[in-house]
Amino acid sequence: MDPLTNLFANLITTMDILTIGFIGLFFLMLGYKPPWWSKKQILSASSGCQIPGPPSLPILGTRWTFSWIGGYSLNKVHLFYRDMFRKYGPIIKEEALWNIPVISIVGRSDIEKVLKSSGKYPIRPPTEAIAYYRRSRPERYASTGLVNEQGETWAHLRANLTKDITSPHTISTFLPQVDDMSKDLCSLIRHFRRDNDKIPQIELLTRRLGLEAMCTLVLGRRMGFLLPEGETDIARRLRIAVHHHFLSCRDTYYGLPLWKLFHTPSYSHLIESEEGIYNLALELVATADNATKKSIIFDSILNAEIDEREKTAAIVDFIASGIHTLGNTLVFLLSLISKRKDVQEEIANDENSEYVKACIKESFRLLPTANCLARVIEKDLELSGHSLKAGSVVVCQTGLACRDPNNFPNPDEFLPERWIGEEKAKTLANSTFLLLPFGCGKRQCPGRRFIEQSLPVILKELVQNFIISYDKENIDISFEFIMAPMGPVQMAFEDRSY
Ligand code: HEM
Repeated sequence: MDPLTNLFANLITTMDILTIGFIGLFFLMLGYKPPWWSKKQILSASSGCQIPGPPSLPILGTRWTFSWIGGYSLNKVHLFYRDMFRKYGPIIKEEALWNIPVISIVGRSDIEKVLKSSGKYPIRPPTEAIAYYRRSRPERYASTGLVNEQGETWAHLRANLTKDITSPHTISTFLPQVDDMSKDLCSLIRHFRRDNDKIPQIELLTRRLGLEAMCTLVLGRRMGFLLPEGETDIARRLRIAVHHHFLSCRDTYYGLPLWKLFHTPSYSHLIESEEGIYNLALELVATADNATKKSIIFDSILNAEIDEREKTAAIVDFIASGIHTLGNTLVFLLSLISKRKDVQEEIANDENSEYVKACIKESFRLLPTANCLARVIEKDLELSGHSLKAGSVVVCQTGLACRDPNNFPNPDEFLPERWIGEEKAKTLANSTFLLLPFGCGKRQCPGRRFIEQSLPVILKELVQNFIISYDKENIDISFEFIMAPMGPVQMAFEDRSY
């Protein structure tokens, strides 16, 4: 950010805080309470009131910690949680607007308790700004969508939309295309290599792979985005819109929630990117040919017994969900193996993919793309000696728990061996409910099977073609609602000779 923009951003943040403070005080003086401020909310707000955490302001809660006064920037939210647990212990309380408590936990048994306690319809707190926007566009959205819906509406969508995408048989039919995509990625790398075999921004290529993979999965055909000149204008704009979408989700979620009062810049960005993704994905769908019409996933969505608007939204959401998640995951994985030529040798010669899968697990443990799991608990729970009422929002900080030496010996080391043979049993005994890169239970990621099938194929192809190196000691990470590499990430891909 240039200094002028930086100054302007700081000024806005200061003005934000002052404005919301004055507005809050004004409402307080009038004795106003928002309509949803029911007795039940107050009850759950008071539950766990002894839980430590950063100081909370009336109405504003603790969101000030992510302004310049608090010292944490939104792209380093993960460092805020690390520091808070160090300071306050294994359970901490933040407060959102109107002092609604949000509890974060890092203890293994607490996390297990929360994730095991989900009932028939597990509740994951929605991304409020998206839900708000989608409700304001009933001509386009019949609901807030699979990611943000709750209860029976969510269960209906889940049952109708994800049967095929989660079926092992259906997903296995995509193996030949995944194999071809991996080969195309290698050719693309060869095409773009510069001096000393370097690719200046590997994240751009892995996200191109993410989009190609999602279109192959959902639209049933290869789009050609991995050809050297293949990134069309639509593909590039879609990749950028998805990036902006994640960033504005983060900013509306963790920043001061002024968007509830008026259209803030982050809310306007969210709307822009949400609309951009919708329109661009529809442009891709409009290129549908016979292959798309025969696509199992596309066909199962079109024939689902749900509102027509839900079908379009699901196609758009599925395509968008995989671009950056797959792209970032692959960059993290490459950054870890790039430090270990012995690991690369082992991957290249791995007959049954056991070692490859162990590397992927270990990469998710050290550099998870989704670093926490949030739930609204459905029954009263005792967590680290504190009683929490049903209805409380609890965030399981699985990413930090995976770095705790009590859960994983030498937690900061990349040791794929811990997921193999005798070591594996020991590792699993200490880590149930901790390594959950795709979440868990009925709300877990429906893209899991496709990604778990694809990543080993892609990794093996890359390593059999190249010796990969990266000159930074550790990759710099940015919180972008999902975890993302702080670009540009320059890696070298030297041809492997046999
Ligand atoms: C490396 C890639 C990916 C990662 C790490 C990832 C991770 C996650 C996580 C952690 C959740 C929350 C689960 C929970 O609350 O228990 C989730 C939900 C979801 N993911 Fe993914 N995901 C990935 C790829 C995909 C892909 C390819 C799709 C598209 C098919 C997808 C679609 C979704 C949807 C629709 C949900 C919401 C499910 C629900 O609430 O019922 N994800 N994902």
